[in-house]
Amino acid sequence: MAPLPEGHFIVIEGGDAGGKSTQVTRLVDRLRDSGRDAVATFEPGATEVGRVLRSVVLGENSELDPRAEALIIAADRAQHTAEVVRPALSRGMDVVSDRYIPSSLAYQGRARELGVDVIRRISGWATDWLEPDLVIVLDVPQKIAAERSAGRVTGGSGDRMENESVAFHAAVRQAYLDLAERFGWVLVDGSGDADEVSMRVWKAVTEHFGRSTV
Ligand code: TYD
Repeated sequence: MAPLPEGHFIVIEGGDAGGKSTQVTRLVDRLRDSGRDAVATFEPGATEVGRVLRSVVLGENSELDPRAEALIIAADRAQHTAEVVRPALSRGMDVVSDRYIPSSLAYQGRARELGVDVIRRISGWATDWLEPDLVIVLDVPQKIAAERSAGRVTGGSGDRMENESVAFHAAVRQAYLDLAERFGWVLVDGSGDADEVSMRVWKAVTEHFGRSTV
């Protein structure tokens, strides 16, 4: 019997207000234009269970312990992987996700200082060790990210993560930069307008998979 078709699992990463969701949409459009079946998804909160978990993690008032935060995010990821990502991949679709395990390594492992290795094991178990084929990190200088989020939320009305300190967001950015080499993530310059960034993202994708297979 011929092997089942397998889609590509591509993850778009980066700090808050880095323009990820726009780039996820654009990448899915380009994949479809090139004849592939592709779907966009995101973490946290893409499933019915996940929506409840997301509101706990990002709700303004929750006094969440960092370990509880890490486990709730991992639970969201378990549900997302089982319900959305794996079924789509096994139908041969490309899956483009706005965040996945690298977010937990940067935010919980590094910025919350819980440790990258333990967070990796927790998320690995949660997803039954499903690894993405390609992780693209949109890197945006702190100043630009701060300006973008100021345009999106007005002082203090963001979610629990957006309201974290400048130092927290700087630690997240640094974590992505530090961990990219270790884990083989591709850094893409996320500054400039959406058209420019989407061209850089597409270049990274075609270079990774080879033009003929994308
Ligand atoms: P969201 O509003 O979905 O998007 P974004 O900031 O990416 O535009 O916010 C998700 C928040 O959850 C974001 O601040 C990062 C955080 N998060 C973690 O801390 N760990 C994780 O593993 C994931 C997936 C998200």
